[in-house]
Formats: sequence, C-alpha cells, structure tokens
Amino acid sequence: MQVISSPEQVQSFLLRQKQNGQTIGVVPTMGALHQGHLSLVQRARQESTLVVATIFVNPTQFGPGEDFEQYPRTLQDDLQQCEQAGADLVFTPKTDEMYGADAQTFVRVTELTQRLEGAHRPTHFEGVTTIVAKLFNITVPTIACFGQKDYQQQLIIRQMVKDLNFGVKIVTCPIIREADGLALSSRNRYLSETERNRALVLNRALRNAGQQAEGGVSPAQIAVEMQRRIHDEEGVELEYAVVADERTLQPVCEDTDSAVALVAARVGKTRLIDNAILRFPSTP
Ligand code: PAJ
Repeated sequence: MQVISSPEQVQSFLLRQKQNGQTIGVVPTMGALHQGHLSLVQRARQESTLVVATIFVNPTQFGPGEDFEQYPRTLQDDLQQCEQAGADLVFTPKTDEMYGADAQTFVRVTELTQRLEGAHRPTHFEGVTTIVAKLFNITVPTIACFGQKDYQQQLIIRQMVKDLNFGVKIVTCPIIREADGLALSSRNRYLSETERNRALVLNRALRNAGQQAEGGVSPAQIAVEMQRRIHDEEGVELEYAVVADERTLQPVCEDTDSAVALVAARVGKTRLIDNAILRFPSTP
C-alpha cells in the first residue's frame, strides 16, 4: 500500500492508472477510522480495481467552537487498518497543500443544505462539498463510497456530482453499528461510559420508529414519539428528530411507502447523528 501526501503526485499517478484501464474506488474520510469507514473500503475493493482512501481532517467543514482541534488524529493506526481492509493507496494531504493561502473558490449546494444538519451547522456543507470536489479532482474516482450514517451528506454529494457533471458513481453503504445498536462514529471516543449508555436512546428511538411505521403509525406521530423519547433521556439534548422524504429531506406528513427518520442530539458535549429508513405498509 502506498501513502502519498502530495496532491500533484496522487493526481498524476491516478490519471495514468485510469488511462491504463483501472477503475478507481475512492473513500474520503477524516481518519480516526473504525469499522464503518473500513466497510466503505471493503465495498470499494469489491467494485473497483484500485482502491484509494483519503484521510484529511478538513478545517473548512468545522464551524467556530466545534471540535476541529480535538478531532482524534490516529494516522499510524488508520494506515494499518486501510491496508488490512484492502486499500492500494492512502492520500494524506497537509492543510496548506489542500488550501492555498489565496484560495477563493467554493462549491455550494443551495437547497438540500438548508435543513437539519445545515440548520445547526450553517457553514458545514459548503466545507464538505468543496473538499469532496477537490478530492474527486485529485483522485479521479470511477466510484466513491459514502456512508448512510451521514444521510444528508451523501444526498448533497449526489446532487453536486449531478449538477457539476463529475461522472462519478456514488455508492451509499449501510450504517455499521456496535452490538448494542450505537452507530459507529469517530466522535464516540469522546463519550464517557455514562454518556455512551445515554447515547443508545438515539438508536432505540429509531428502532421504535421502524416498528411504528410497520404498524401503520403516521409519520407525524412517529416524529413526535422520537422527539419525546430523546427529550426524556437524562443528559441528552435533542436537536432534531424528523421523518423526511428520502430524496428531498422535506418533512413527510402524509401516507407514503417509505421515508427516512433522522435524529441529532448532544450527549454531554458530544454531538451525535443517526438515521434509519422507515417502511410503511403499502396503502391499497
Ligand atoms: P468521516 O466522518 O470520517 O466519514 C467518512 C465516511 O465514513 C462518510 O461517508 C461516513 O458517512 C462514513 N461513516 C462514518 N460512520 C459510519 C458508520 N457507522 N457506518 C458506515 N459508514 C460510516 O464524512 C466525513 O468524514 C467528511 O465529511 C468527508 C466526506 C471525508 C469530507 O471531509
């Protein structure tokens, strides 16, 4: 496995490989890798001949007062895990190589970015789309793998790819969870044992939402019940719990076959998100 930090070197190497007929599968990450990230690498391995992981803690997607400085950085461990999961190349750029002091170009998706995460983190998605566009230009992917864990993010990236004709196939991979249901996240390592237990309410609320949907409870009622459960958990501060259209993220109030339930909450100082697809009994 190669590890390269120079954008120019990675780009010229991968352009050559692509011309030679390789299909390139890219997995963008911010490191502190866990089995969720590795499942994306494994998926890229199945679907492409050359697998590239990128590790870059992207400063522009963190707002003021967020955890950019504290964000876990575990590069040596990450590289080992990438190799085991089947990556051929890991791109590990430095911040000043990714953002020139005179950088003045940004990528912004206008509508999907307004709600939910975008409402709570106003500058976040512009940072995400800008860095992902840059990573795509550098790594020239045939496919790129993203997690359903960041549901809104993968939708926004699909929109960007379509609007800007990136010609990259976006693959969305299932959420990997701990045995007790907690969605894996690099931020879970901030949680104390008590907080970790409290955080389980997110998955419990989503699982209950799934059961209610199957039982024909209305989307609006499901949302209220998720909010109640999360709100009632001690030490957990609800940010949102909604039932939304899978493509537009607009709230769903009427009958539908399926929808996505999305939740965000603070557990102590740690902000966590999770989601689940809901299936409703088909209406005659
Ligand atoms: P990061 O949080 O490191 O996540 C990298 C990828 O791993 C994302 O596509 C995310 O959805 C996926 N992922 C995280 N936890 C997962 C889990 N439990 N199961 C499955 N997939 C999971 O998302 C980012 O980094 C950044 O915004 C990035 C796209 C790299 C741009 O900087």
